[in-house]
Amino acid sequence: MLQTKINSKKLTLNKELKNLLIESLIEIPTADNVQPFRYDFKDESLYIYHNKKIAKHKLNPDQKSSLISYGCIKTCINIVSSHFDLLPIFDEYNTEDAEDTLWAIVSFEFRKRQKDELLSEIPKRVTNRGLYQIPTQIKINSARESLDKDFDLIYIEENQIDSIANNDQLVWKDTETVKDLLSKINLVFRKTSGLNFENLYVKTLDRIPLIIVKRFPFLGKIVWPLVKYKMKKTIQSSSYVLVYYSKTENNTDYIKTGEKCYRQWLRMTQLGLAMQPLTSSTYAIKVDDTHLSMNNTPLHKVIGTDREVAWAFRVGIPLKRSLKSNRLTKSEVTSLDSFSLPDLE
Ligand SMILES: Cc1cc2nc3c(=O)[nH]c(=O)nc-3n(C[C@H](O)[C@H](O)[C@H](O)COP(=O)(O)O)c2cc1C
Repeated sequence: MLQTKINSKKLTLNKELKNLLIESLIEIPTADNVQPFRYDFKDESLYIYHNKKIAKHKLNPDQKSSLISYGCIKTCINIVSSHFDLLPIFDEYNTEDAEDTLWAIVSFEFRKRQKDELLSEIPKRVTNRGLYQIPTQIKINSARESLDKDFDLIYIEENQIDSIANNDQLVWKDTETVKDLLSKINLVFRKTSGLNFENLYVKTLDRIPLIIVKRFPFLGKIVWPLVKYKMKKTIQSSSYVLVYYSKTENNTDYIKTGEKCYRQWLRMTQLGLAMQPLTSSTYAIKVDDTHLSMNNTPLHKVIGTDREVAWAFRVGIPLKRSLKSNRLTKSEVTSLDSFSLPDLE
């Protein structure tokens, strides 16, 4: 079924592969669901573009969040390609200067490969921001067995929850961040990018303060205790945190973080475990000195280790069905015209 035409000179990518690649790439996680990547097939290669105007966010300094997503893209392409006996080769442009638009040209080589079983998890993976149930010990054990090197699944004690919630929601104290954050939240109409209310698990009454803060971002400071309280409750409901230990010194480290964490996220999905990134508690996004000094108890300190935590997630069994977030259409992600997409609401 999954076949790629090979002639003596050149490998021809078939329609099925191209379609599956695009359908799968649409599903990769991006911070605040901004979806800044666009894809184009040219001369049997896949061109990957990044639109930094779409990705502009106080929480995307030097395109760090986008680099993590690009890591997810690499793993995703690798998983899909394995089903076609292809090996993707990434010709990356200026990884240390993520300001360019063209990030990579992916060519493919024929190679007998083992089909990656995580393919079926790609459309199922979601960020679940709702309440969780604490998983059974058996589930935790099988999750632990699935962990790659440099990952750990940690039980969070009651006295550690406050610090994590505090870190996660400190961003609400920074007016510029609140402004960017809320510009990605669609308060009235559902849109194909950004976050809608359902994905945030925000009840109707709690939407009112958000609508006000969207209009007056400096009021974020006032909403802060409310969002922190909510986050505390959600962390309390899960109790387990998945951590990925890595240094985050250069762009390659961020890409690797995305590559490794995305694969682990798919594995957790396969085990029926839900996840939500706890980005502000970690080094995934080193915003600036102001933010780092606000973030005075990063996760590695909370859990009592010297190893730098590059990215972390709370983990559990979702109490409510996970809701898939909105996505751009196939024609939107493959159209380079969309680089002039109208701004989000
Ligand atoms: C680098 C990065 C950081 C993220 N940080 C957070 C976060 O701090 N909190 C959160 O709830 N979701 C976070 N997310 C999840 C995205 O909001 C989510 O992937 C996006 O809305 C698409 O939804 P999906 O994961 O359900 O497909 C992050 C995603 C990425 C790639």
